[in-house]
Amino acid sequence: MTRDNAYWIERSNRYFLNTYSRYPAAMVEGSGCRLKDADGREYLDFLSGIAVCSLGHCYPPVVEAVCAQARKLMHVSNLYHTAPQTELAELLVTHSFADQVFLANSGAEANEAAIKLARKFGSATGRYEIISLEGSFHGRTLATVAATGQTRFHKGFEPMPEGFRAAPFGDIDALAAMIAPHTCAILVEPLQGEGGVRPLEEEYLRSIRRLCDERGLLLIFDEIQVGMGRTGTLFAYEQLGVVPDILTLAKAVGNGLPLGAMLATERVGAAFVPGDHASTFGGNPVACAAAAVTVKTMLANGFLADVREKGEHLAARLARVAAHHAHLAAGVRGRGLIQGLVLRPEAVAKGPLIVNRLFEQGILLNFAGGTTLRCLPPLVVSRAEIDTFVNVLDLVMAAV
Ligand SMILES: Cc1ncc(COP(=O)(O)O)c(C=O)c1O
Repeated sequence: MTRDNAYWIERSNRYFLNTYSRYPAAMVEGSGCRLKDADGREYLDFLSGIAVCSLGHCYPPVVEAVCAQARKLMHVSNLYHTAPQTELAELLVTHSFADQVFLANSGAEANEAAIKLARKFGSATGRYEIISLEGSFHGRTLATVAATGQTRFHKGFEPMPEGFRAAPFGDIDALAAMIAPHTCAILVEPLQGEGGVRPLEEEYLRSIRRLCDERGLLLIFDEIQVGMGRTGTLFAYEQLGVVPDILTLAKAVGNGLPLGAMLATERVGAAFVPGDHASTFGGNPVACAAAAVTVKTMLANGFLADVREKGEHLAARLARVAAHHAHLAAGVRGRGLIQGLVLRPEAVAKGPLIVNRLFEQGILLNFAGGTTLRCLPPLVVSRAEIDTFVNVLDLVMAAV
């Protein structure tokens, strides 16, 4: 029997809960920005496993580090110290505002850690509420769903855990008016990814920081999607003139191995004492070995500058496509190599169709926030690959 796409799809559909609407492909191999499915079809990946494989699929130095660590030590729990964890934590602290790190396994867990730390910090003064923004996305565990400012993710799971509210996007007065004596933190993505590639204005972010300082609140940045080089600096906040108290990371940190991280200042981190928070797998040595190589590669000479230049190239090329199809496209927004082509309200129904046509043409992309074609290529994408993608997108938009 040929083990082709049809074989794997039929077999897989027998066993899984119905939580994903998947494309009709079973991926078997990846290298750089290319993927291959079980039928032998090749794809140009402009999604990177949703902002994960930033150094490209199966980046050889990461593969080597993973294999070497797997041969040495795969797991010991957090009852002991390990070298890969320590090296990664040191790298993250040395290159950020933070003094301390907690390691988890995913984005939702990194945000859970941030929520718990903010609540523990606030507990001394009776504060527990976290205000996030409408349109945000913070994860799929109950607390992170409650923090997510999109009610469609709450439906059917009510009652939501208490202590979360979402403020209108971009409205600093509305946010200020929502702050109550029991508010402990404001949680924002500096650029909303799942919400449709929506950057927050720098002045707005600075006003949020000022509000936090004036009212004694913590500022938490969720950089799970836009951190780790995606916007052209290791962390997105570096370009914004705003420094958070807590920052969460995941996705690209391990370049394909599951890992999450919460970074904090010592002042805030000191609220946690042994027993307050933990994870059996968090900071797994193999994932940390992958992450240490990933961070070092991103910090090497020229890598991030190249991301910024390629981001400008992608944005400029997308803007031309948007202008070319002005009846469908409202514009382009993003930073670095997270760029979105926003569809006009009357054309949003065409979004999934465009993504499906691109898939048929061998290009992977997705439609975010019900408004935006979201481009998240591996950060190692070449200018030629960007041009190939944009040319196909142009043809597909003409055809729909
Ligand atoms: C900004 C943001 N926060 C949190 C998450 C949740 O991460 P994970 O799926 O690893 O739990 C995501 C995932 O898309 C995200 O984009």
